[in-house]
Amino acid sequence: MNLADARTALARARRVAVLTGAGISAESGIPTFRDAQTGHWARFKPEDLASPDAYFRDPELVWDWYAGRYRDVMAAMPNAGHNLLAQMEQEKGDGFFLATQNVDGLHARAGSKRLVELHGNLTTARCEVCHRVEDLPAPQDFTPPPTCATCGGRMRPNIVWFGEFLPEAALEAAADAFAAADVALIIGTSGVVYPAAGLAFETLDRGGTVIEINPTETDLTPRLSFSVRETAARGLELLLGA
Ligand code: APR
Repeated sequence: MNLADARTALARARRVAVLTGAGISAESGIPTFRDAQTGHWARFKPEDLASPDAYFRDPELVWDWYAGRYRDVMAAMPNAGHNLLAQMEQEKGDGFFLATQNVDGLHARAGSKRLVELHGNLTTARCEVCHRVEDLPAPQDFTPPPTCATCGGRMRPNIVWFGEFLPEAALEAAADAFAAADVALIIGTSGVVYPAAGLAFETLDRGGTVIEINPTETDLTPRLSFSVRETAARGLELLLGA
């Protein structure tokens, strides 16, 4: 398959499923998950902060990390990659499905509606007692930890941490969409974290086409139909002839 074939397959596809990872937000200035942590957080590995053990050992430290990332994402803007996917949803309608591993909320802010956030969303918090989910206050008004408006319980970051289960309904919807897809796009993910990384094979196993957009090769690359060695925004522009 070459770029022209990939463009034709995507243009003709009635059902398109997309999986994005941290790479699609890199052009919005959000560090990818495996980028080196900077500043005060340089001495921590994300895995040491994004886990239930870390949180219950030191909730203040974990909330400080998320509050900082929350401020960063709210100061960031969706980039052309996010916007092109929101436009694709407009064109493909019910045939379009977007699953993201990102927790930055940028797809929703770009206008994507047919979207599942497999790993949660750091602009919201979840009550540890009644499990109610609430939007965080504006960054300038936010002092962690938030307390639940319903039961007064302490709220935790609404993130799926290492060792926790993904939201079942979201994962099921994603697996169904990738199984039904004529074309799947895998954009800006290292493809090392399952079950998200396994979605591509739902499409491949049923004879669908899977196209990757990533500046570097990934573990998935050898198994996929075609790989666009570009950034998310540039790769989508090339595939859409935008
Ligand atoms: N455009 C597209 N892809 C990019 C760009 C860009 N501008 N810049 C970097 N990338 C690619 C990198 O080459 C890498 O393959 O984005 C990918 C980012 O990989 P990770 O940092 O591993 O992030 P991700 O794949 O989203 O991680 C998946 O792992 O740590 C858990 O829950 C966390 O959701 C995260 C999951």
